[in-house]
Amino acid sequence: MERTLIILKPDAVQRGLIGALVSRFEQRGLKIVGLRLLAVSRELAHRHYAVHEGKPFFAGLIDYITSGPVVVMAAEGPNAIAVVRSTVGATRPGEAAPGTIRADYGLTVGRNLVHASDGPETAAAELDLWFGADALADYTRDVDRWILE
Ligand code: RTP
Ligand code: MG
Repeated sequence: MERTLIILKPDAVQRGLIGALVSRFEQRGLKIVGLRLLAVSRELAHRHYAVHEGKPFFAGLIDYITSGPVVVMAAEGPNAIAVVRSTVGATRPGEAAPGTIRADYGLTVGRNLVHASDGPETAAAELDLWFGADALADYTRDVDRWILE
């Protein structure tokens, strides 16, 4: 089992897509083990996107992610990191495959709706950064016997 971090970015919240996007992950069978809506400080944004510091789009990215509240989610499942990335789609919505979130809801890279951790180390670090001491929920779902072989 893996856990990964998903952020529904400010455009997703403003467009009233929280329910629709959470549903994508639920319907795929992933288990939500953490969920929270919060305003993002510039300090938190800098820490989250530290890997992009110095790139030409960095300032715009910080403005974007701090422009309104976001929804952060921790999702659990087999290969959850790759499964969530493939559900989200390519970074540039114009290049994302139909059926992915970014293709179905987006047009431009600067409003691409969702963030998802890109590997085991970043997933662990991002879950710690966004959920910290708030323990993620450990629980069983009866339906899992119909989702997981
Ligand atoms: P994310 O981190 O948000 O899940 O997206 P990603 O892995 O698919 O893409 P990444 O390369 O990590 O880029 C992070 C976010 O920065 C914005 N971006 N803008 N204007 C540009 O050329 C550009 N490139 C990236 C996007 O919001 C992207 O999701
Ligand atoms: Mg990324």
